[in-house]
Amino acid sequence: MKKVVYPGSFDPVTLGHLDIIRRSSKVFDIVYVCVLNNSVKKTPLFSHAERVNMLKDVVKEFDNVFIESYQGLLVDFVKEKDANVIIRGLREITDFDSELQMAQGNHLVSPDIETLFMATDPKYSFISSSMVREFAGYGRSVKGFVPEIILPRIEEKVKNNSGGF
Ligand code: PNS
Repeated sequence: MKKVVYPGSFDPVTLGHLDIIRRSSKVFDIVYVCVLNNSVKKTPLFSHAERVNMLKDVVKEFDNVFIESYQGLLVDFVKEKDANVIIRGLREITDFDSELQMAQGNHLVSPDIETLFMATDPKYSFISSSMVREFAGYGRSVKGFVPEIILPRIEEKVKNNSGGF
């Protein structure tokens, strides 16, 4: 069984993330999408549980994709799943520096784990979760940025967070 782990903070999941999930599910037998915390970033907008639930809703059509939640190091999660491949999407050159650092750091601490990069479909390369949070926070629709099924949850969050973005 070829297993891959697709990690991220998914705050919230975007159409770009979903595209990487869809394409990975064709290349690997099992895809574990792992919701982690990114300590470099501020407190997430959506709670861990909310991010997991949104992902669960958007991957229902894939029978080899599993949504997981983990508090800890990515490499430890990968080992727990008996996998040895991490996949990350690369949108543009500005992603490269930090992604390379992360891949090389993970490789140093866990040489058996490989990181592979998948080029983002150009139609999604401008999309980021932070852009979604910004537009949504100012009351703009994020249709076209995120899977339609999660739009109501984002709108609800904005309502409950008025002034808090
Ligand atoms: O979607 P993001 O925020 O770019 O994802 C980054 C993430 C969550 C994959 C990364 O921060 C991570 O792996 N966090 C878990 C802690 C960890 O393993 N840190 C060491 C590598 S940076």
